[in-house]
Amino acid sequence: MEATALAHPNVALIKYWGKRDVAMNLPAVGSLSLTLGGLRTQTMVRFDATLQSDQLLLNGKPDDRALSRVSRCLDLLRARAGVSSKARVETSNDFPTGAGLASSASGYAALVKAAAAALQLDADADFLSEVARIGSGSAPRSLFGGIVLLDAGIGTDKTTCRTVAQPAEWPLQVVVAITSRAAKEVGSTGGMESSRDTSPYYGAWVVTHPADLAAGLDAVRKHDFTRLADLSEASCLKMHAVAMTSQPPLLYWSGVTVECMRVVQRLRREGLPVFYTIDAGPQLKAVCLPDAVTRVQAELQQVPGVLDARVCTLGAGAWVEQ
Ligand code: PMV
Repeated sequence: MEATALAHPNVALIKYWGKRDVAMNLPAVGSLSLTLGGLRTQTMVRFDATLQSDQLLLNGKPDDRALSRVSRCLDLLRARAGVSSKARVETSNDFPTGAGLASSASGYAALVKAAAAALQLDADADFLSEVARIGSGSAPRSLFGGIVLLDAGIGTDKTTCRTVAQPAEWPLQVVVAITSRAAKEVGSTGGMESSRDTSPYYGAWVVTHPADLAAGLDAVRKHDFTRLADLSEASCLKMHAVAMTSQPPLLYWSGVTVECMRVVQRLRREGLPVFYTIDAGPQLKAVCLPDAVTRVQAELQQVPGVLDARVCTLGAGAWVEQ
């Protein structure tokens, strides 16, 4: 009753920020994301009848903070399999954890994939994606490869997720400029709740989001890079405007993040096919067409304060190690 799974984190172009149901972790808005082939979480799950409780080791150290959410996901899988044994979970990331690089997305995607395999559960993608969402709202996206749509399922108590373009169909690349390896101070769940309760812009964000998502999807279907660039940067800035106008304000950027934004703006003005996006942390992700990647990486690497600039191709959905 043991299995290991791997998953890539993902980055949203049309962002998710805000929950319509906290207990079920249902998002207020859908999202459109890229699965990041260059970064990886590896998770081993072993169900063991002799254990008194679930155990979680993150990057080699016990992690009791995330344990209750992990157990909640495991409980749903155990109930489906008719198994009551507790589990030992060992997970590690080859990139900074909890720092705005979606380690929770790849973490919960790898967790449900490994646990379902260890339980020999014949579960469909929709069920696994529901369980992954309980762990992290962006985790269902990491179960899928390429360019991925998460439909918020407004009016229902479910979300659905699927690949809308395989990596080979439109081989976008992403340069991840790592500006800090520290974990963020305010996690996304707390940040989203605060935004919903206090930002004067939250209502406008939710109301205008479906049109942004539909336009983003259309740009992907047409391989219209310039339109996707405009829509993605606008969605990123809208999300951060909501975060910044929350009380207390959530400013996830550092000065280095802003310098990186300016570099990408300059490269765009010079005609390079590149745009930026930023999540709940100071890292900047520069999305580009393959021809532009060498220049984009070199330029971002030179920004003072950038610790590393890693190139990611579009990756596959989570998979079980054979
Ligand atoms: O899945 P969570 O709860 O970590 O939320 C992720 C939110 C953002 O990364 C900021 C945006 C997104 O759509 O990924």
